[in-house]
Amino acid sequence: MSRSYYIAGNWKMHNTRAQSAELAQALVTELKDGKHKYLVAPTFSSIETVSAIVEGTNIRLGAQNCAAEEQGAHTGEVSVLQLKDLGVQTIILGHSERRHTYKEDDVLINKKVKLALKHGFEVILCIGELLEEREAGKVEEVCERQTVKGLEGVDASDLGNVVIAYEPVWAIGTGKTATPEDAEVVHAFVRKVIACLYGDNAASKMIIQYGGSVKADNAAQLMAMENIDGALVGGASLKVDTFVPIAKFKS
Ligand code: PGA
Repeated sequence: MSRSYYIAGNWKMHNTRAQSAELAQALVTELKDGKHKYLVAPTFSSIETVSAIVEGTNIRLGAQNCAAEEQGAHTGEVSVLQLKDLGVQTIILGHSERRHTYKEDDVLINKKVKLALKHGFEVILCIGELLEEREAGKVEEVCERQTVKGLEGVDASDLGNVVIAYEPVWAIGTGKTATPEDAEVVHAFVRKVIACLYGDNAASKMIIQYGGSVKADNAAQLMAMENIDGALVGGASLKVDTFVPIAKFKS
């Protein structure tokens, strides 16, 4: 099965507009001959700036979240309509920082997933277990629940716009990466969950990224695994020198 690799940078709450512009500009130059699919997800306040820079290039524009409602009295939230207006193509949903710091549950995340898909966005649905859940032997239970509930009510015809990112929470921003073998076990399991929901063909096409302390020196080993189709990169996506080698890893 020839799934293409998809490397995404999640800039989280970093960078002013000027810093974002500088980084985006450099990535456009460095990745223009890159062979994989690419995305950057700047903080909301930098999206318009970065949009003008990546438009028409091989780098997609992402947002890190959206509101569960289209518009209205939702102080502090950002709507899919506003993201579309800025040229955003992809929305990251269910990131562990949204789930655990901002207490987003599966029901809310599912609402956002369906709204984003309805408006034609690609969605990167993040899933992954906490350290205590791993230690309690609940990796599969948690990943299955987050996948099934995250995709509840999503029609098979929209699945081409869904990417899953497996991000073990204990590996995010900690410097601890899951070993390629450990990650592969979960990726293969998640693909099985997708097969149960949507059939083998849909499952074999699903892009499943790994996230959690991906660096230049572990990217190729992770991506060599059969069911790992790319990376969602946090810390290492903030510098050209650390992101480009991941984005241009040799398969
Ligand atoms: P990290 O973050 O690469 O800094 O561990 C990954 C993520 O949160 O998507």
